[in-house]
Amino acid sequence: MKIFSGSANKPLGELIAQKLNLELSPLEIHSFPDGEKRVRVLDKVLDEDVVLVQPTSPPVNLNYMELFLILDALKRSGAKTITVVIPYLGYQRQDHIFREGEGVTFSMVAKILETLEVNKIITFDLHTIKIPEFFKIPMIHLSAIPLFAKKISNHNDLVIVSPDMGGIRRIKQFSELLGNAPVASAVKNRDLKTGKIESLTFEGDVKGKKAIVLDDMISTGETIEACVNLLKENGVSEIKLFATHPVFSKNANERLANLSVEKVYVTDSVYVPSEKQFPKLEIVSIADEVAKNI
Ligand code: R5P
Repeated sequence: MKIFSGSANKPLGELIAQKLNLELSPLEIHSFPDGEKRVRVLDKVLDEDVVLVQPTSPPVNLNYMELFLILDALKRSGAKTITVVIPYLGYQRQDHIFREGEGVTFSMVAKILETLEVNKIITFDLHTIKIPEFFKIPMIHLSAIPLFAKKISNHNDLVIVSPDMGGIRRIKQFSELLGNAPVASAVKNRDLKTGKIESLTFEGDVKGKKAIVLDDMISTGETIEACVNLLKENGVSEIKLFATHPVFSKNANERLANLSVEKVYVTDSVYVPSEKQFPKLEIVSIADEVAKNI
């Protein structure tokens, strides 16, 4: 077996390789002045089972394109099978038509991956459980929730909170791992044109409780910030944040660092450079889970 990593999250690729007692095989990735990339596989992969690690985190379009280029090069170099580890799978939020005139962007992404003859996809905490239905390719959908549950030792007075109704399934799963703690959800309305949150209201009783907020991803941090403010207004005693994918766009890291919460837990599904890290942030690695599932 050979394992490769694109440039989106090489530290994760290295960790997964280590867990498999392998070394990352070399790739040449060259960027031309006009932005085009050229990829070359620098190891023999003929008749080999190959693993490629490449989350499609920001810059999303570049990382997707690089993923497609590497897959094409691996296939043309004779790889027998290709397992692609895309722990954070971009464009999932565009999985249906919200307004007349839009495309179903995620279905287009799925079609491209199928065309590139990927044999298996390993991914984490998908935005909705419908996502695997877009693919004929087998998809191993893993979750960071069991890893997060290990971070909570005291199960008394907890309430598990989703910042929007789309996360209900997720918080129920978390609750089961935490002695069936009660759950509550915010109800979020976004302006579909600007992406701005228009309103956030609350469903469930949180007063005096220790809130455990769980989301699939933090992009700008706007959702989490609004949820934290709402929880404070509703009288919670303490807040811990958990989100699988630290997409951290714009100034999300500063926004999170300034929130009055105990701790922010994320995974290494997306690479967080040291300049975006802050004291309350703890990064939990998914490498072991990925290696076990390859
Ligand atoms: C939304 O449906 C997702 O689960 C996240 O809550 C959202 O994408 C986070 O985005 P932001 O951090 O920009 O508010």
